[in-house]
Amino acid sequence: MSFNVAIDGPAGAGKSTIAKAVAKRMGYIYVDTGAMYRAMALYMLRNGVDPADTEAVAERCGGADITIRYEDGVQVVFLNGENVNAFLRTEEVGNATSVVSVIPRVRKKLVELQQALAAENDCLMDGRDIGTCVLPNAQLKIYLTADSGVRAKRRYDELKAKGQECDLKKIQADIEERDYRDMHRETSPLRQAEDAVLVDTSKMSIEEVIERIMELCRERQ
Ligand code: DC
Repeated sequence: MSFNVAIDGPAGAGKSTIAKAVAKRMGYIYVDTGAMYRAMALYMLRNGVDPADTEAVAERCGGADITIRYEDGVQVVFLNGENVNAFLRTEEVGNATSVVSVIPRVRKKLVELQQALAAENDCLMDGRDIGTCVLPNAQLKIYLTADSGVRAKRRYDELKAKGQECDLKKIQADIEERDYRDMHRETSPLRQAEDAVLVDTSKMSIEEVIERIMELCRERQ
């Protein structure tokens, strides 16, 4: 049986940085489910479909063939055969993703893909509903969070380092709006699973968080 670790938490808590590092050191694959939802949002934006138009998105989502491959341990997302990794991390796609990801038909399609990956591989999967819906039997569940001000500052520093113009207040407002939407949607809202370990990273360094999670992995394996 494969060993599955589920990491959930709000935007900017450090999930992908931490998950990538832990997966590499422990020899698991890293499944970034946010990237799959982002690819779906990208498909809608490219095809002129309003992400908030539930019916249009549900109708068109069948046209997005999303697959995952691993190249040198890095997850590559293919949208209808094209490697779209480079287009997924913009704020525009991030905000549209939070909107399309509330749509049940979109979730059903991507959850099936995620469950198939987890059944076949030892993996560490991050997202919003992994411990609660996608992998309810994961051997380890973590809820990773941090204060919204700390998360906004981290995102701001990340964008600045890439040379992108940004505004801290706007980033914090977007993060809080996204949290609200992710936590209050009807289908699979973001919440801590009852059996998840809470890790608040507001005052922790990246290395401290990695160490803490690796310790938990070793305990459960
Ligand atoms: O983790 P991220 O920032 O790449 O996620 C982008 C959006 O996708 C986020 O607003 C919520 C949504 N998402 C989701 O609904 N379920 C997941 N398992 C992963 C992401």
